[in-house]
Amino acid sequence: MGIDKERREDFSTQKYWQDRYTTTTDSSTFDWLITYTQLGPLIHALLSTYNAPRILNVGCGNSTLSRDLHDDGFSNLVSIDYAPSCIEQMRQRDPELEWEVQDATRMTYPDASFDAVVDKSTLDCLSTTHDDSARRYQDETLRVLKDTGVWIVVSYSGYREEGFGADWTVERHEVEVDSGGNEGGVHRPTVCMYVYILQKRER
Ligand SMILES: C[S@@+](CC[C@H](N)C(=O)[O-])C[C@H]1O[C@@H](n2cnc3c(N)ncnc32)[C@H](O)[C@@H]1O
Repeated sequence: MGIDKERREDFSTQKYWQDRYTTTTDSSTFDWLITYTQLGPLIHALLSTYNAPRILNVGCGNSTLSRDLHDDGFSNLVSIDYAPSCIEQMRQRDPELEWEVQDATRMTYPDASFDAVVDKSTLDCLSTTHDDSARRYQDETLRVLKDTGVWIVVSYSGYREEGFGADWTVERHEVEVDSGGNEGGVHRPTVCMYVYILQKRER
């Protein structure tokens, strides 16, 4: 997200997202950072180690990720976003899937509800503030994950590790993404996105 300070801070407000999804009411989808074509092999291999894993997609937006996971065999899935306009749109678009308005920093799910929590650029948003929302989201993720669970964080930042703290073991993968070649004479090189695989440390 190559953006200036003012815009970056917008990404951490619920109003920004609520307005954004209110103005995009057509059937278009938008995937931040990376699509399932690029992400799928890594996620598939990881989630296949669980038996019918219960999955939480946090900050689902209007991306195709939940539908892609479902079609890839991972149908025990709930997708949340704190923008009601987003969830309303997704329920209409894809009523077969489970969608809920939830704030990731104070989820209503019981402890140890999920085998996997998937985050594509939601922690990126929460990390644009100087308040403690990213920390509260991490604590909530730790709480709702089973002890054997996994938190998959897809980010544009290769420097997230420092913020994860001592509760997790962290593996970082790089995924190369073609940013559009040299269309129109503008040089757009291959870039890297980062996938963090976090497991709870034994206490
Ligand atoms: C950068 S978008 C990513 C959307 C989608 N995951 C994707 O990959 O295209 C971040 C999403 O996180 C949601 N979000 C941000 N903070 C949140 C929070 N505290 N709780 C739930 N959703 C949140 C926003 O509404 C937005 O839809």
